[in-house]
Amino acid sequence: MLRKVLSYIIPITIYKKKSNISKSLEVTWVNGELVLDSENTNYSYGSLQRILKKGLKYIGFKRIRTFNNILVLGVAGGSVIKTLVNEIKFEGQITGIDIDPNVIEIAETFFKLNEISNLELKVMDAFEFILSTKLKYDLIIIDIFQDTVMPNFLFEDYFINRINFILNKNGFILFNTMITNAKDEERNNYYRSKFTTNYSIRMYPKVEIHNELFTIKKLV
Ligand SMILES: C[S@@+](CC[C@H](N)C(=O)[O-])C[C@H]1O[C@@H](n2cnc3c(N)ncnc32)[C@H](O)[C@@H]1O
Repeated sequence: MLRKVLSYIIPITIYKKKSNISKSLEVTWVNGELVLDSENTNYSYGSLQRILKKGLKYIGFKRIRTFNNILVLGVAGGSVIKTLVNEIKFEGQITGIDIDPNVIEIAETFFKLNEISNLELKVMDAFEFILSTKLKYDLIIIDIFQDTVMPNFLFEDYFINRINFILNKNGFILFNTMITNAKDEERNNYYRSKFTTNYSIRMYPKVEIHNELFTIKKLV
């Protein structure tokens, strides 16, 4: 409690661990809120939670409540999962995938994701998961970063096609990206061009300085 109060004056880190994927993982009290950061960026809660919440708002909270299955690729501390469960009151099944076992341990110990009854967490590479899953989803949230880097596979045809295949008709993809230079901008424009008549794609630039969100609806 004392640390929470003091964190309004100065951020207080309560846990730090090295990670092969994210360089480091830090759990910190900032302005009375517990956040998870990698070495160079905010991973969960804080600005990241606001960004993804905006994306969910674009899709519509009411519509999301009608969905049955949501897949979250990139769990970290689970801030988007908390938004889905606590604010949107989503009661369907959520599957969360993260490649880093340290992240999942933090998510359960500090952010109590193990107390969410409609959530199943798996430590697995998202690419492998989407190849092996037999289920289809109404909403797929893609939020995969290795510190500040987005792995290339996210923008490759094989991944895009497989995601589209496991998405139900009238379902949505919410894709969080980071733009720090002209090359990233080009990459995102090219990504957008891959979704043709069967999809309705929207781009939301500069959601918070460097983040650009996509919402993609599967029409047929
Ligand atoms: C920005 S954080 C996710 C934040 C989370 N969506 C939230 O709402 O709090 C990015 C996460 O992607 C995970 N990640 C990186 N590469 C991955 C991969 N190939 N498969 C699955 N997860 C991956 C990292 O371990 C990290 O936890």
